[in-house]
Amino acid sequence: MDARDRAAEAAVQHVADDMIVGLGSGDTASRAIRQLAGRRITCVATSEASAQLGRQVGLDVRAPDEIDVIDLTIDGADEIDPQLRLLKGGGGAHTREKLVARRSKALIIVADRAKQVTRLGERMRLPVEVLPFARRWTFAALEELGLEPRLRAGFTTDNGNVIADCALAAGVDLDALAALVKATSGVVEHGLFLVEATLAYVGSDDGVVRLQRP
Ligand code: A5P
Repeated sequence: MDARDRAAEAAVQHVADDMIVGLGSGDTASRAIRQLAGRRITCVATSEASAQLGRQVGLDVRAPDEIDVIDLTIDGADEIDPQLRLLKGGGGAHTREKLVARRSKALIIVADRAKQVTRLGERMRLPVEVLPFARRWTFAALEELGLEPRLRAGFTTDNGNVIADCALAAGVDLDALAALVKATSGVVEHGLFLVEATLAYVGSDDGVVRLQRP
C-alpha cells in the first residue's frame, strides 16, 4: 500500500451503507473507488472515466439529475494550501468535480504529500475550462486579466470544451480572481476550489495526516 492508497483508505472509512457518494477523478480518487468495490451505496461520478471505473467495480453509478443531495464526495487535488484551498483540473475534470462538490454535504480530499504547497499556483498553472466557440475571444479576455492562458494541446474535456492553463501569480487575491474568471464570457469553470473542501487526508510512506480548515 502506497501513500495514495493510505489516504484513500482513511477517506473510505467515512462511507456508510446506503450513502450517496460522489466519485472523484484522477489517480488518487480512483484508489478510493476501487476500495469501495461492491459497497451498498449509490454513486454519482465526476468524469466519464470514474463512472466507468465505478461500474466496473460493481457500484451503482447514477446520472447526476437522479440524485438530490450527495452525502460525501471523495476526490483528489493538484495542490492543497494551508487554508485547505485547492487547485484542481490537472485532469480537466474540475467543472464536474465542482458541481458534485457543491452538492455534497462533505468533500474529503485524498492526496500524497507532493500536493501540499505554501501557495496555490506554486507548482501548477490554473486550469480554466473554456467553450470552443469563440475560443480566441475568451483567451483574449483571460489575457487581459494577466493570466497568460495557454491552450492545453490535444485535450478536450468530457463536456466537449478546451482548457486554458493560466498563470497564477504569487500574492494575487484568489477570491477576487476566482470571481473575475467566473464572470468572463466563454469560461465554463476554473480550478480554484476555495471553500469546498471539508477535510483532507494526505498520505506518506509512514502514515496519513488529516488536515482540517484552520
Ligand atoms: C482532475 O481534473 C483533478 O482535479 C484531479 O482531482 C487531480 O488532478 C488529482 O489527480 P491525481 O490524484 O491523479 O494526482
